[in-house]
Amino acid sequence: MDKIISAKKALRGRIRIPGDKSISHRAVMFGSIAKGDTNITGFLTGNDCMSTISCFKKLGIDIEVNGENVTVHGKGLRGLAAPRDMLDVGNSGTTIRLISGILAAQDFDCVLNGDASIQKRPMKRIITPLSLMGADIESTNNGYAPLTIHGRRLKAIEYTMPVASAQVKSSILLASLFAEGTTVINEPVASRNHTEIMLNYFGADIKNNNGVITSAPVDELYAKDIEVPGDISSAAFFMAAGLIVPDSHIIIENVGINPTRTGIIDAFKAMGGYVNIINKRSSGGEPVADIEVKTSSLKATTLEGDIIPRMIDEIPVFAVAALCAEGTTVVKDAEELKVKESNRIATMSEELGKLGAVIEETDDGMIIKGNQNISAGTVYSHLDHRVAMSCAVAALVGDGDTVITDADCVGISFPDFYEKLESL
Ligand code: S3P
Repeated sequence: MDKIISAKKALRGRIRIPGDKSISHRAVMFGSIAKGDTNITGFLTGNDCMSTISCFKKLGIDIEVNGENVTVHGKGLRGLAAPRDMLDVGNSGTTIRLISGILAAQDFDCVLNGDASIQKRPMKRIITPLSLMGADIESTNNGYAPLTIHGRRLKAIEYTMPVASAQVKSSILLASLFAEGTTVINEPVASRNHTEIMLNYFGADIKNNNGVITSAPVDELYAKDIEVPGDISSAAFFMAAGLIVPDSHIIIENVGINPTRTGIIDAFKAMGGYVNIINKRSSGGEPVADIEVKTSSLKATTLEGDIIPRMIDEIPVFAVAALCAEGTTVVKDAEELKVKESNRIATMSEELGKLGAVIEETDDGMIIKGNQNISAGTVYSHLDHRVAMSCAVAALVGDGDTVITDADCVGISFPDFYEKLESL
């Protein structure tokens, strides 16, 4: 599907964005291996989270989906059954990496595969630590999916994370639930901690002492109800749009503001953006708030170090905002962008280039000159949901109608993105 996005004179109103992708995945996975029924509200029905549901159904878990209300009839830590055929994770890196930690410890074998993008995403990062725990994972594709996992008895390890990755950390933590002994993970740079929060809520024994994470064995996890907050990674498109489109004022309701995810708020504030956090509250151990943004004169900034994992998925749309700032913005330490759903350093500079904007690619990020004119044009999503939505935000400040080709990939994380944009 192609989508036409016109330049806008103003964006005004209140919106509610879909549920958090990371939390939705985890609620289904942890609910499946907990005892009892987990009732999830605000679930993200995007394709990635539906892939997680389909995998756990194949593993014998009964899951009822009623719009954003999902009930997982968990069977406890030892309740999964051997699947009859291959588990298809679709486009979802979170699904394949997290589920591998669980499957490594079962008493059956299975095969995991996904789409062309998944087959290019590095899996050695989970195969290495899980193998140290005793896992038996075969990749016929040199460290990429498809993966064949032969279930084994696992033992605890002490492991230092070479990259800040919540997916790798979560995969090890899930394996640790089945392993003999206490697992220790050293995390030099913090990544999102939804796994630690939710697993503890379900009865796990995970502690974080200044980046040293320990997971002690427990006999069982117990189901809990989960209210999924709105996804700050989806809110980021409307934050950026509200800051750069003239005469705008947007309130985004019910957004998760876990401090391991709020780098984008800090970055926009550092640029002089009007970003106001209102109505703070908490749900299931996760902080939630409404976010108010208004058109602002942005100034360039430098992103590097610890903030990068706290806004890794928001850097594509941050780059669009930086094109509209005064001065030159530099993004460093962000090599991880190259191994997302697409190489986002390359795809963002290529597509924004088609709108007349120049982004200089570097080995670990990009250099973005500000005050650039954005023209209308035709851009390609590269089947990457965040590239499509970031290009849509750029189109809002273009000089006409921009066409996004293969625009429906937004269904991965934000199925009604274009309708929400029109509503403003
Ligand atoms: C995610 C972690 C991040 C993020 C991804 C979701 C998660 O990946 O980019 O969209 O739910 O754990 P890494 O942890 O691999 O950086």
